[in-house]
Amino acid sequence: MRISMIGCGYLGAVHAACMAEIGHHVVGLDIDQRRIDSLSAGRAPFHEPGLPALLQRNVANGRLRFTTDPALIRDADLHFVGVGTPQLDGELGADTSYVDAALETILTHADRGDGTPALVVGKSTVPVGTAQRLLNRIHDAGSDLLLAWNPEFLREGHAVEDTLHPDRIVYGLPEDMEAGAAARALLDECYAPQLAAQTPVVVSNYPTAELVKVAANSFLATKISFINSMAELCDATGGDVTRLAEAIGFDDRIGSKFLQAGIGFGGGCLPKDIRAFMARADELGVDEALTFLQEVDAINLRRRHHAVALAEEAVGGSLQDKRVAVLGMTFKPDTDDLRDSPALDIADRILAAGAHVVVVDPAASEELRRRRPDLDVAHSVEEAVTGADVVMVLTPWKEYVTLDPTALLPLVKSPVIIDGRNVLDPHHWDAAGWTYLGMGRRVSTW
Ligand code: UDX
Repeated sequence: MRISMIGCGYLGAVHAACMAEIGHHVVGLDIDQRRIDSLSAGRAPFHEPGLPALLQRNVANGRLRFTTDPALIRDADLHFVGVGTPQLDGELGADTSYVDAALETILTHADRGDGTPALVVGKSTVPVGTAQRLLNRIHDAGSDLLLAWNPEFLREGHAVEDTLHPDRIVYGLPEDMEAGAAARALLDECYAPQLAAQTPVVVSNYPTAELVKVAANSFLATKISFINSMAELCDATGGDVTRLAEAIGFDDRIGSKFLQAGIGFGGGCLPKDIRAFMARADELGVDEALTFLQEVDAINLRRRHHAVALAEEAVGGSLQDKRVAVLGMTFKPDTDDLRDSPALDIADRILAAGAHVVVVDPAASEELRRRRPDLDVAHSVEEAVTGADVVMVLTPWKEYVTLDPTALLPLVKSPVIIDGRNVLDPHHWDAAGWTYLGMGRRVSTW
């Protein structure tokens, strides 16, 4: 099929490359010339395992092109919309203006050339009600474009795998049966390899499809904040939240995934999505249905405060003029994404408390050097920890999880390790002569 991808950020660049990989002819459109130049040269503009190979292969075989020229999307059968919906400045709600602009671009240029309507496929995470509003706009413009909502569930760091082999596909279709059937037929053709692999497809109306995405992210955020609230209880009682998570996780109604207590969730999706969801519920007059998400957000932000308090405890009070080494800056491993990163926020708070903060990250160091001249960005873990009063592991990159405490011991001024993600072995660090401080977890016999 001929496909256009409007917006070539995390979602769009990966989706475009994966659609080309399964045999479609794809044009990726973005307003950012540097991003387009990089993608056109087969270079991923961000760190995502597997993406560079896909880009190179499909740019080289001619199935994948990137452009800033909207006219080139003209003959596409499907126009995917994957532009950002960031949190509005100073408000909880999402800014959908880029989605509206994408639709206007499609309305201006789309023409399959054979008289049949093309399908607009929304992938951006939007406030419920957006799809119907866009359909109204299509009708008001006198266009016969079809519209479906097809939310994206990819995780950064696993984006290629999640797109090529999704665990489910959701089709949000228009109420008009004829239009819905036509849209469904086009989606089925597009996702033929995934359907052949028996991927479950859930068909629904627009509001359900829009809600599925925010409901999934709200559930995940709630699970993380639940275990972090248990970490607070463990801290107050001497319990170990990792054992607690292990024990409750054996109940398959609960499940063991997403029960990793620590400094909490961040990134470009979970925090903004739960806030936008609350804002939308408020507009709809059902804010009470989501007041628990306020608590989820509050628990999550408390983790950052708690990490700073642990650092203070580690240095015996004031952080003023102390040297603090922070290992890991991205919001999670296997990405260079610093958006709403708990690690970066904690480093900033410690900096504001007067400490000398030395940070290191396997993927984000260069960007940090460019963007944050006030941070001391080391080239290696050894450089970062040398002379440190306290060392904090805040992002569980594999290389930090497997650090050798004995090798680091002679480098630091004071051997105190804060395990912000509960990924280190407390006994191992304790036995090597370190004071270990976890999040809801301290060294105990059992
Ligand atoms: C998330 C959703 O998982 C994905 O389905 C959706 O499409 C986009 O948002 P992503 O933002 O890539 O994906 O990150 P995710 O892997 O969900 O992690 C989010 C945050 O939660 C990270 O900061 C991570 O460190 C944290 N986390 C995750 C925990 O603190 N504990 C856990 O047990 C799991």
